[in-house]
Amino acid sequence: MPLVPMRQILLEAAKGGYGVGAFNVNNMEQIQAIMKACSETQSPVIIQASRGALKYANMIYLKKLMEAAVIENPDVPVAVHLDHGNSLDTCKAAIELGFTSVMIDASLEADGKAIASYEYNVKTTKSVVDYAHPRGVTVEAELGALGGIEDGHGAGLAADDTSHLTNPDQVVDFVKKTGCDCLAVAIGTSHGAYKTMRYDKDGNPRPPALALELIERIEQKLAEAGYPNYPLVMHGSSSVPPELVEIVNKYGGAMKKTMGIPMQDIQFGIKRGVRKINVDTDGRIAITGAIRKVFAQKPEEFDPRSYLAPAREALYDLIKGKVRDFGQTGHAKDYKPATLEDMKAYYASRK
Ligand code: G3H
Ligand code: 13P
Ligand code: ZN
Repeated sequence: MPLVPMRQILLEAAKGGYGVGAFNVNNMEQIQAIMKACSETQSPVIIQASRGALKYANMIYLKKLMEAAVIENPDVPVAVHLDHGNSLDTCKAAIELGFTSVMIDASLEADGKAIASYEYNVKTTKSVVDYAHPRGVTVEAELGALGGIEDGHGAGLAADDTSHLTNPDQVVDFVKKTGCDCLAVAIGTSHGAYKTMRYDKDGNPRPPALALELIERIEQKLAEAGYPNYPLVMHGSSSVPPELVEIVNKYGGAMKKTMGIPMQDIQFGIKRGVRKINVDTDGRIAITGAIRKVFAQKPEEFDPRSYLAPAREALYDLIKGKVRDFGQTGHAKDYKPATLEDMKAYYASRK
C-alpha cells in the first residue's frame, strides 16, 4: 500500500465514526513501535514529524525511516505528516521531501511564538493550500492557540489560558477562505505533560478544564454552511497516564503530579467530529520509564539495544491501547487508498 493522503484517512474515519491517532516520531524505534501496533490491530495511522524532529534526525533520515515503515507494512494505510509547520517554506520543504500532508500552524507567527492576527492566519494558510493542493497534498490548519510548552512551538500561554480558544464564529469563514482540509481547534488542551493548573486542597491534580461544547458548536456551524463531517483535529491529546509517570519516578525520575486529557473527553470529541488526535508526550513518558527501569535494574548494561528494545515495547503497548480507544482498529482494509494523482484531480475539480 502506498502512502495514503491524510484527507482520505480522515474522511473515511468520519464515515466510520472513529478517530485516528497522529503520533509524533523522532527515531527508528518510535516508528517501529507505532507500525507494529497498527499492523497488528489493522489500524490506519498518521505518523508525524515536528520541525524539532526533522532538525534532530535530519529531514532525510526521518523521511527514509517513514518510507521503510510504509514498505514494511503494506497492509496499513499510513499518512506521513508535518506537524506544526511554521511557514510556507517549511511546508514546501516537507512536500518536496515526499510528505503526503502538512500542517501550517499560522495561529502563531513564523517565529512559532507570537499570536498571529486572523488575517495573517488566513493569508499564510491559503498560500500553503495553493502550493499543496496542486501536488495532491493535504493541509491541516489551526485556528485559536494552545497553551503549554514555552521553548518549543507555542505562544508560551499557561496550560490553562483560555484567552485564545477557537472562536466558532470564525471557523466557516476560515475554512471557506483558505480551503484547508482539516482544522486544529483550541478547546483548552495544551502541549506537554503539564496540562492542568487545577489542584485540590491536598495538592492532587484535577483534569484540565476543556471547552468540549465548542467542538459541537463548530461542527454544527460547518454542517450548516455546507461542510458536513468536516474533520477537526485535537492537539495536546496525551492523557499522561499516572501509571507511566509512576514508572518514571520509581526509577529515579522527578516528574511532578499532573493529569492529561481523560480518554472519555477525547471519545466525546470523536463522537462530535474530531478525526485526528495528536499524541506525543505519552510516548515520551512510556519510553523514558522503560529506559530508566533498565538503567536502575541493570546498571552494568551499556548496549543501547538493552534499553531501546524495552522502550520500543513500552511505546508499542501504549499505542495499541490508544488505537483501540480511538476506535481506529480493524479499519485498515475498509477502503482502496487514493493516490496523490487522484487527489490532484480532486482538488482541481473543486476550483
Ligand atoms: O507539538 C508539539 C509536539 O509534541 C512536538 O514537540 O517540537 O519537541 O518535537 P517537539
Ligand atoms: P501532547 O503533548 O499532548 O502529546 O500533544 C502533542 C501534539 O499536539 C503534537 O502536535
Ligand atoms: Zn500540536
